[in-house]
Amino acid sequence: MTSANAAGGQRETFTRNSGFIFAAIGSAVGLGNIWRFPGVAYESGGGAFLIPYLVALLTAGIPVLFLDYAVGHRFRGTAPLSFRRIKKPVEALGWFQTGLLFVIGVYYAAVIAWALSYFFFSFNQSWGDDPAGFFTGEYLKVGDPGVSTTIVGGVALPLIVVWLAVLAVLLLGVANGIEKVNIVFIPLLFVGFAGLVIRAITLPGAVDGLNALFTPKWEALKDLDVWIAAYSQIFFSLSIAFGIMIAYASFQRRKANMTSSGLVVAFANSSFEILAGIGVFSALGFLAYQQQVAVSDLEGLTGPILSFVTFPAVISEMPGAAFFGMLFFGSLVIAGFTSLISLMIGVSAGIQEKWGLSRTKAAVGVSVVCGLISVGLFSTTSGLIALDTVDMFANNVGVVSSAILMAIILIWVLRRGDMLRHHLNAVSTFKVGKVWLGLVGVVAPVFLTIMLVQKVWSVID
Ligand code: PHE
Repeated sequence: MTSANAAGGQRETFTRNSGFIFAAIGSAVGLGNIWRFPGVAYESGGGAFLIPYLVALLTAGIPVLFLDYAVGHRFRGTAPLSFRRIKKPVEALGWFQTGLLFVIGVYYAAVIAWALSYFFFSFNQSWGDDPAGFFTGEYLKVGDPGVSTTIVGGVALPLIVVWLAVLAVLLLGVANGIEKVNIVFIPLLFVGFAGLVIRAITLPGAVDGLNALFTPKWEALKDLDVWIAAYSQIFFSLSIAFGIMIAYASFQRRKANMTSSGLVVAFANSSFEILAGIGVFSALGFLAYQQQVAVSDLEGLTGPILSFVTFPAVISEMPGAAFFGMLFFGSLVIAGFTSLISLMIGVSAGIQEKWGLSRTKAAVGVSVVCGLISVGLFSTTSGLIALDTVDMFANNVGVVSSAILMAIILIWVLRRGDMLRHHLNAVSTFKVGKVWLGLVGVVAPVFLTIMLVQKVWSVID
């Protein structure tokens, strides 16, 4: 279905409200929920982490999500166009966000490609007895300059498959591509992942894993880094202040209950995240039980190593290894892919609107350029190192600056807060009061600025 847009053309829209909600959940639920949240929570106070996490969700996550929605839904464009319609120079902020999407997309695709390979490796646990050596040595060939000769058997082929799939979805567009993919895959992901979690909590040792994750370390609450970790996790996890939720809201029909949808998305995302924490730590408890060690003695509880080294070790020990391996890596692929298409439609629709290109040209251009960079970077030995650096920059410094700028410019410099609030309230059943303005205009930027200063400081130091 389409609706007229200000430029005179027809703007593509989601065909139904559930399409928008599933797409937004698809973007939010991603690698961050499965491989980032459990480790972050564990390292940042365990059960006590839930407090800063909830505070961050309520004071910044949901308010900034509403801000994204208000901008996109009111101004009917991706971030650059919407900001431009608000005031010309602010377009630059939109391109900054688009730049972040591009950069994150490049490495996000690589992780999905790894998960895709591991989906197939699960059939007969190709990683053998040494998942660590297999991942970095045999698979990624870290430290082996001769890698180019083995590209096809390694990372390049799955990466190309991932980028072709992205291209296909972009070519199909919002209603036939993004919406359909999410309506099919998101329910599948929730059901499949729930099955995995149920299996994990019934394994011997699961309770020890859950104790390791949830036993509160209250002294962590005095640590600024723990609060920073909570805010970063919420921003990344909800995909906010990246321009994505602006783009998705701009594809939502004009009559749409925006704030209530936002609450559904935020709730689904956090529930999935906590479910993932339970599943991952139950499985780690099982591994510790098998190895006769304490959970705290296990290594590799976060990031790529958790998914591609520690988890394969767990899977090898499980009855029904092939099935559960495929379920785990299949979930990673789906969760990641539905986020990746949101990243890339943000970039391609932005370019399409700016230069008046056809959807096909923009989609092909963006997929080819991003895909080539991604294949170039990640099928060589520099992949793992690039991942860390880029992740740190884009997710900490990049998105936090973007959120601060957005709040200050929209609320304080241009004073559009009331207008955006009225827009949200005109279309939604869940009304936002002045409190919302206080949260996006004051609480969130103050917290985020403290975070940013502290992050930059720790890098310089
Ligand atoms: N929210 C996604 C996740 O949790 C990641 C993401 C970030 C997706 C930014 C799009 C934009 O993995």
